[in-house]
Amino acid sequence: MRLQKYLAHAGIASRRKSEELITDGRVKVNGQVVTELGYKIDPLKDKVYFDDKKIKTIKEYTYVMINKPIGVVSTAKDEKNRTTVVDLVPGDKRIYPIGRLDIDTTGLLLLTNDGKLAHKLMHPSTEVDKVYIATVEGTPNKHGLEKLRNGITIDGYKLSKSEIKILKSYNTDSIVKVTIHEGRNRQVKKMFERIGHPVKKLKRISFGPIELANLELGAYRYLTEEEVKELKSL
Ligand code: URA
Repeated sequence: MRLQKYLAHAGIASRRKSEELITDGRVKVNGQVVTELGYKIDPLKDKVYFDDKKIKTIKEYTYVMINKPIGVVSTAKDEKNRTTVVDLVPGDKRIYPIGRLDIDTTGLLLLTNDGKLAHKLMHPSTEVDKVYIATVEGTPNKHGLEKLRNGITIDGYKLSKSEIKILKSYNTDSIVKVTIHEGRNRQVKKMFERIGHPVKKLKRISFGPIELANLELGAYRYLTEEEVKELKSL
C-alpha cells in the first residue's frame, strides 16, 4: 500500500496533507525517514512513525468470491497438485476458503485472510443460509420432501429444518432448490441419498447475503464494502 494512503487510512491526515507530511520528512518507515511519495509499505509488517510516534497497525483484509468449477479442490494447498480454489484468485496467496464445496460441486465460495470473520462464519452456532440448486435422480415425493424439510439425522447429528422446492421435473431427473442452515460434510448429497434420490449435480448460488448472480464459472470478484459489512453483522 502507498504510504500516503496508509497515513490517510490510519486517520493521520487527508491523502494530500499526508503527502506533505511525507515530503516534509515527518514520516519514518522501520526507523528510516521516507520522503518519496508513493513509497510502498506492507501494512501487516512495516512499522510506520509520524513525528516519531508509532502508528497503530491497520489490517487490510481481502474478501473474494469465486464461482468454483468442477475438479477444483476447496483447500489452500493440495498434496496431489490439483488446482485449488486459491489458484483461481491472482495475487495474495494468504487467503483461504470459508468452508468447503465438494470437488464435483460448482458455485459460490468465499475466500479471505480475515481469520476472525472466517472463524465466525464457519462456526456451527452461526447459522448462515446456504442455497443450492441440485439435480437429483427421479422426482422426490411429498413424503420424502417433508422428511428432509423437518430435518433428518445424519452421522448422529439432527439437522435443522430446510427449505426445499422442486423447480422442474423431467422424466429421469428433477431440479431442486435447497436452503440449508448448516454446512455439514456432503450435507445436501446425504440428504437426498437418504430419500432415494441421489444428487447428480450440485451448485451453490448463495451464502448468507452474498449471491453468485452472473459471476462466470472459474471467475472471481472482490466483495463490496457493503457485502463485507453484511457478513460481519450476521
Ligand atoms: N452439500 C454437499 O453435499 N456438497 C457440497 O459441496 C455442499 C453441500
